[in-house]
Amino acid sequence: MSRVPVPLYTAEQIRNRVAELAISLDGRFPAGATPHFVAVLSGSFMFLADLVRAMPRPVTIDFVRMQSYGSGSTTSGTPRLLHGPSSDLRDRHIVIVEDIVDTGLTLQTLRQNLIAARPRSLDTVTLLDKPARRRTDVPVDLVGFRIPNRFVVGYGLDHNEEHRHLPYLAVIGA
Ligand code: IMP
Repeated sequence: MSRVPVPLYTAEQIRNRVAELAISLDGRFPAGATPHFVAVLSGSFMFLADLVRAMPRPVTIDFVRMQSYGSGSTTSGTPRLLHGPSSDLRDRHIVIVEDIVDTGLTLQTLRQNLIAARPRSLDTVTLLDKPARRRTDVPVDLVGFRIPNRFVVGYGLDHNEEHRHLPYLAVIGA
């Protein structure tokens, strides 16, 4: 498999799409509400940073860490919530901020955990969606880009911790 990243979406395309997502997201909440963004580490850190700055209203943030893929590019076992959230979610408007929804199992596990904390509402925004590999019917409210079944890196996403720093999205193994 080639490890040279081949560009998929430019930094400008991402910036434009993130701005649209922020406006759509904003429209989902009543005036005066402060949504609470729960971002999934580590892949969503860049997306979160750009998304909150594009939001027309104040938001609060928290982070969770889910069991990761380890060193490969295939899903290992059942995902687990490893860390967080460290804030009280009760009666809050929660927005899960994901980098990519692949099989959907990670998001499903996270949703179950957050629902148990009795939020007022629970939405999910993901930068990328790979519907071809979905193994569970988990709701995803807002999607940045719907992509084919390719392994994507950059803009926070990694392969073996490489390529996260790239300001654009790229495919490896092409
Ligand atoms: P899921 O549980 O299969 O939906 O996996 C979600 C997680 O797998 C994401 O949060 C990523 O960490 C990782 N992942 C899935 N596909 C990719 C990819 O194409 N590039 C980088 N990470 C990926």
